[in-house]
Amino acid sequence: MIIRPWKAEDAERLVQLTFQWGFETTIEEMNAQLRRIGELNNAEVFVAEAKGKVLGRIFVMEHLTVGSSPFSEVHGLVVDINFRKQGIGKALIEAAKEWSKAKGFAKMRLRTNAKREEANIFYPKIGFDLEKVQNVYQIDL
Ligand SMILES: CC(C)(COP(=O)(O)OP(=O)(O)OC[C@H]1O[C@@H](n2cnc3c(N)ncnc32)[C@H](O)[C@@H]1OP(=O)(O)O)[C@@H](O)C(=O)NCCC(=O)NCCS
Repeated sequence: MIIRPWKAEDAERLVQLTFQWGFETTIEEMNAQLRRIGELNNAEVFVAEAKGKVLGRIFVMEHLTVGSSPFSEVHGLVVDINFRKQGIGKALIEAAKEWSKAKGFAKMRLRTNAKREEANIFYPKIGFDLEKVQNVYQIDL
């Protein structure tokens, strides 16, 4: 297995993995999002690939702050349902950690829904501490 940054030809597979993550998107939307991420130097998508097939992905980006130290934040970690518990999620997290260290961040953070049982077992198991529990508010625009 290799971990590498995304390529344009991964888009279709990333749409499928996004569905497994619990969200629906289109190839057009995915291509637009990847193009946007490709323009930034403070965000990256890594994929795990084995035998030519993308088995997981992670998105990591700088979390901008005002008045406190910036940190990186992981979004959208997902491993193909047929390939879980084989170390792929941990390898993707390691890639995000290496990227974050190379960018000079001292901390990497992520948020996950309390209802995601496997994720809330996985993160503490690979070394994450539960920092706080928050309410997330949203408004339609
Ligand atoms: C959470 C997720 C990314 C874990 O990926 P994974 O590739 O299965 O995890 P790994 O194989 O690298 O597991 C690392 C460790 O966590 C453990 N672990 C992972 N999932 C587990 C589970 N459901 N129950 C118990 N332990 C689990 C592994 O056994 C392993 O422990 P070990 O090192 O002692 O053997 C994967 O289950 C997933 O994609 N879930 C759906 C999407 C999701 O919830 N994403 C995260 C929230 S945003």
